[in-house]
Amino acid sequence: MGSTAAAAAASALPASAGSGENLVLILDYGSQYTHLITRRVRQLGVLSLCVSGTAPLAALEGLRPRAIVLSGGPHSVHAKGAPTFPQGFLDFADGAGAHVLGVCYGMQLLVQSLGGAVEPGEQQEYGKMDVEVTTPSSALYGEAEAGKRQTVWMSHGDEVVTLPEGFEVVARSVQGAVAAIENREKRFYGLQYHPEVTHSPQGMETLRRFLFDVCGIKADWKMQDVLDEEIKTIQSMVGPDEHVICALSGGVDSTVAATLVHRAIGDRLHCVFVDNGLLRYKERERVMSTFESDLHLPVTCVDATEQFLSKLKGIEDPEQKRKIIGREFIAVFDDFAHKLEQKIGKRPEYLVQGTLYPDVIESCPPPGSGRTHSHTIKSHHNVGGLPKDMKLKLIEPLKLLFKDEVRKLGSILNVPDSFLKRHPFPGPGLAVRVLGDVTQGNALDTLRQVDEIFVQAIKDAGLYDKIWQAFAVFLPVQTVGVQGDQRTHSNAVVLRAITSEDGMTADWYYFGHEFLVDVVNKICNNVRGINRVCQDITSKPPATVEWE
Ligand code: XMP
Repeated sequence: MGSTAAAAAASALPASAGSGENLVLILDYGSQYTHLITRRVRQLGVLSLCVSGTAPLAALEGLRPRAIVLSGGPHSVHAKGAPTFPQGFLDFADGAGAHVLGVCYGMQLLVQSLGGAVEPGEQQEYGKMDVEVTTPSSALYGEAEAGKRQTVWMSHGDEVVTLPEGFEVVARSVQGAVAAIENREKRFYGLQYHPEVTHSPQGMETLRRFLFDVCGIKADWKMQDVLDEEIKTIQSMVGPDEHVICALSGGVDSTVAATLVHRAIGDRLHCVFVDNGLLRYKERERVMSTFESDLHLPVTCVDATEQFLSKLKGIEDPEQKRKIIGREFIAVFDDFAHKLEQKIGKRPEYLVQGTLYPDVIESCPPPGSGRTHSHTIKSHHNVGGLPKDMKLKLIEPLKLLFKDEVRKLGSILNVPDSFLKRHPFPGPGLAVRVLGDVTQGNALDTLRQVDEIFVQAIKDAGLYDKIWQAFAVFLPVQTVGVQGDQRTHSNAVVLRAITSEDGMTADWYYFGHEFLVDVVNKICNNVRGINRVCQDITSKPPATVEWE
């Protein structure tokens, strides 16, 4: 996160959290595990915020962290341009009374900047490794662990060879490398390994000990408080005569965001749900009924099927399809805002977006981290992207939350579980699952039927919650078959089911033989125009989740 994003995160903080006693700040030096540290701290009931490790000090002003974790990173502290904390950071930490924990690269950075020495290790340590607690009563492990060994996850080439003044080694790897250090008087701590990953089975206990016993933090980060704070913030931000609009996609994030804003300002929230003709089987009816009957959200459903499909006719290139869909969403949305203005006699001032914390963090990763936001494999867009001249102010009530936290919040808001647990669905909908021209023949309807049979079978087998995403893909390929003694020349479909943490990487899901036989029979017997069913058993990478 750059300074602006860090400042945005700081200003987005509920007043009680930013100035409170129990904030943990994570400085990101580009490790793939940085988000995980942030999440682990929150899992322990403590608010943690992640900012770029190179953000200027001014960006941290106003934050009064009780603990600061310096994350790992892919660099060597000796590399040219290796990222480091801003000048004056250690004084800032001292002034805030914060305890500083360096993890992997973060520990090496701390050691080097305090006058110790870090050098390329004789033996590089990657993967599982045993470490031994060498001190009878360390702060990080306590007396109970003294002399004991534990398995941890290492990932480093450099190692600490000379400690800065006032530090002691409290754990070493079985190969002899420094694994944990502390200077209790100055409130500095370091772990060479990654306590945040599951491959360090006792890592969570070490983090727990650090936060609660060493820093004296209290676990007071509760979703109910987040909800109450957010409602207050929205109520004080949106004036009594002001109106807010929101595009609902049918996904978890926009639904929870809208439900929360509705709780705050009632029917001055106006939602729009667009049927673009690319939705799943009976999706419009199902989603609208949840919005209206279960959530009592004021939603206008716009049937824009013709508008989208006429523009998509004959278009085969996936990126062109996405761009057309993006443009049409904006046109529908603009029209909605315009009609609303005529109806209520004034322009809506705010727009609700379901932006999540990973988007905020990723919008400005630290330099050299290798994590880039703009690397376009597919140009994703949010449903209802904004026309530039709308000049709406944003309300992003979920921008400090991870997906699982949004689900918890949704649950407090009584969003039905069936809704919160729905598999993700891409903004361009079935357009990226009918390969080539989406208007070819009966492709969309055929795909809807196949998809419904597949997903329903997964639900019936009790597998839905074990799978991140399951869907069917329509291939513009005809194959020869034989059905009822008749030769057929019909289309082929593909079934794809994956497991994933976040959609960034994925594994294909292994169904048992019986399940697949049953599903294939159902599809071929019930869906006209399909005589061949394949299963996609490619992980991501090398494939992506969607076929287009
Ligand atoms: P890929 O295909 O990029 O998908 O591996 C990763 C996750 O993103 C979803 N996805 C999209 N979501 N607009 C969206 O809102 C898009 O254009 C889009 N393309 C893919 C996909 O379903 C998976 O969850």
